[in-house]
Amino acid sequence: MNISVIGTGYVGLTLSALLAKVGHKVHCIDVIEDKIKTIKEGKSYFYELGLDNLVKYGIDSRNLTPTLNYEEGVKDADIIFLSVGTPSGADGGWDLTYIYDAVENAAKFMKDGVIFVQRSTVPVGTGKRAIEIIKKTNPKANFTYLSSPEFLREGSAVLDSIIQDRIVMGGDNEEKKKILFKIFEEIEKMAPQITEETPEIHEYASTYISNGGSKEGAFKDKCISTCLESAELIKVCSNTFLATKITFANNIARVCDRVGANINEVMDGVGMDRRIGRSFLYAGLGFGGGCFPKDVKGLIKSTEDLGVDAQLFKRVYELNESQVDYVVDCIKQMGVLGGSQVGVLGLSFKPGTSDVRVSPAGRLCKALSHEGFAVLATDPRAIEESKKDFPEDKNLKYVDTVEDVFKNSEIVVLATEWPEYKELDYERLSKLMKSKNFYDARNFLEKEKMNKIFKFDNLGA
Ligand code: UDX
Ligand code: UDX
Repeated sequence: MNISVIGTGYVGLTLSALLAKVGHKVHCIDVIEDKIKTIKEGKSYFYELGLDNLVKYGIDSRNLTPTLNYEEGVKDADIIFLSVGTPSGADGGWDLTYIYDAVENAAKFMKDGVIFVQRSTVPVGTGKRAIEIIKKTNPKANFTYLSSPEFLREGSAVLDSIIQDRIVMGGDNEEKKKILFKIFEEIEKMAPQITEETPEIHEYASTYISNGGSKEGAFKDKCISTCLESAELIKVCSNTFLATKITFANNIARVCDRVGANINEVMDGVGMDRRIGRSFLYAGLGFGGGCFPKDVKGLIKSTEDLGVDAQLFKRVYELNESQVDYVVDCIKQMGVLGGSQVGVLGLSFKPGTSDVRVSPAGRLCKALSHEGFAVLATDPRAIEESKKDFPEDKNLKYVDTVEDVFKNSEIVVLATEWPEYKELDYERLSKLMKSKNFYDARNFLEKEKMNKIFKFDNLGA
């Protein structure tokens, strides 16, 4: 099939490359020239495990054509996926400018019978408005509009896209929905081959596959057909619910700190209840990234606009904001005074990505700098991005090596749980420090081992 994907972010580029891999002719459209230039060279412009291989295949096989031109990208498409960003607007709600601009641009050139599929996270009601825009821009257009939100995580975007937990399809045309389900099934069928060819994700993915992800018959059980509005809400609710779980764990971690309980032990016990589950109950610096913060904020705004109480979501957002300040207080309570040098390990919003959007680690660096600490921070992948989102200032400097983070520091804080930080030679590094203090803000390191080397503390334990 001829397929167009508008927006080449984590969602759009991953989808484009996978569609090209299964043999579709895919145009991926973006408005930023540098991004299109890099994709044309056969690579991703952001770091994502296994994606480069797929993009390279797409370009080499000529199945993937990156373009800045809407007419070229859309005119032959049987299906158009929309995956442009939906950042937070000034009022806290989602800014849908990119969505509606892209819908209007695509509507001018789309061919008869096209299926228009919304993949971005949008507030309920966006689909209705998008349909109006298409009809107004192209009154003769004959099209089907579906909402099929994606649920991929950065750092495991390829893996999450080849084997999905569920495939949601909202809209009122059951025949066209079947076409879309089939396309996602084709991708899932390729999962074993893709993981074989992409060694980086192979080990990780095999656990999923052996768990029955791609077993015959299983796929159809994962397909959910809903109305447009329900599909739009499913994505927003999933993200907000997961954000709520994290905030719950973070709040209980504060209780643990007071009473001497251990947050990991508590959540292990709580999570064994199958109705609750262990995932997303890991206490830390709070949730960040391109999705949770903006989606919780967006749900607050759209819920309030509907006249429904949004206090629950508001509190989740506020508590998450305050988690970085809580950690700054914990650091001070270890006796580290303002003006001291603090080393920070990790800057990305989570491991496995160079993305620093609303990164709790970046926010921690800025908060410490604001409090007058001299901050030296590093990350395996996200230093350049951090320089843009959390610029260096008179108190905050980025350094290339972990040695530089430890050298002469009064305390070192683990802010992002990169696997490579588990294996550091802390014994050797501690000798570079002015005082051997260490705070693990992600509860990632072995307390017993660290206690032997440092005056060590961690969150909620
Ligand atoms: C996507 C969805 O868009 C977002 O709503 C959802 O919450 C998470 O997944 P992501 O792929 O991470 O987000 O977004 P981003 O990396 O910001 O990529 C969006 C792309 O769209 C960018 O490459 C941007 O340049 C492009 N874009 C933006 C357009 O092509 N057209 C525009 O008008 C604006
Ligand atoms: C999220 C959703 O998981 C995904 O389904 C959706 O499509 C996009 O948004 P992502 O933002 O890539 O994905 O990252 P995720 O792994 O969900 O982590 C988000 C944030 O929560 C990170 O800052 C992470 O460190 C934090 N987190 C996650 C915790 O603090 N504790 C946890 O237990 C889990």
